[in-house]
Amino acid sequence: MKFDPAQMESPDIYKVLSGVVIPRPIAWVSTVGPDGVPNVAPYSFFQPITPSPPHISFSAGSRAGVKKDTETNIEASGEFVVNIVNSDIARRMAISALDFSPEQNEFEASGLTLGACDVVSAPRVAEAPASLECQMRQMIPIGDQRYGATLIIGEVVRFHVRDDLALDNFRIDFGNLDAVGRLAGDWYCSTTEQYDLPRAKYQKELSDWFE
Ligand SMILES: Cc1cc2nc3c(=O)[nH]c(=O)nc-3n(C[C@H](O)[C@H](O)[C@H](O)COP(=O)(O)O)c2cc1C
Repeated sequence: MKFDPAQMESPDIYKVLSGVVIPRPIAWVSTVGPDGVPNVAPYSFFQPITPSPPHISFSAGSRAGVKKDTETNIEASGEFVVNIVNSDIARRMAISALDFSPEQNEFEASGLTLGACDVVSAPRVAEAPASLECQMRQMIPIGDQRYGATLIIGEVVRFHVRDDLALDNFRIDFGNLDAVGRLAGDWYCSTTEQYDLPRAKYQKELSDWFE
């Protein structure tokens, strides 16, 4: 089967794109509004860009052409926090995706605790196993106003990692991080089952692999 996006409606393209690009990491983005109201919402069109200096990006779509609160807050404050979702708090992440009005405190509505940040004024999710304090570097509109999105690029200025997950020499205990990935629709996956696939170091080794 082949699909030509030029011949398809946007919601259908979304179904195909988000159905094959899986599993997606989830940026649970916390911000603060100009009136001081904290906001938190999940964004799975999310990826790290480069480690040095560390940059990440995620994209925020719109609600029928109206910007989401996360984007509005980042535009105004220039700051945000990406929190990592584990299975303990996945349900609360799903609640925070509801279409709350900008005046509603989504931390309260989702049963979350405000955590203090070192550098940015946005709060972090205290329950999250890891959080990345970010300063916005670029906001790039992509596509049309109704179905397009804004690519938001941020520089990570502080990492928070739960003590028991920070191993020696900056290694992270990814098994116990228990990060949740997004599949399509309301489906998610866990990262608690892993396997090791050592990389071949020399060309010669490759021929052994195919024997
Ligand atoms: C797991 C998950 C991932 C999501 N990813 C995105 C995304 O990448 N882009 C987007 O615009 N909305 C995404 N959403 C929807 C937003 O979270 C939702 O529109 C939310 O209400 C936005 O909140 P805000 O207005 O407070 O920013 C996602 C929802 C869920 C549950």
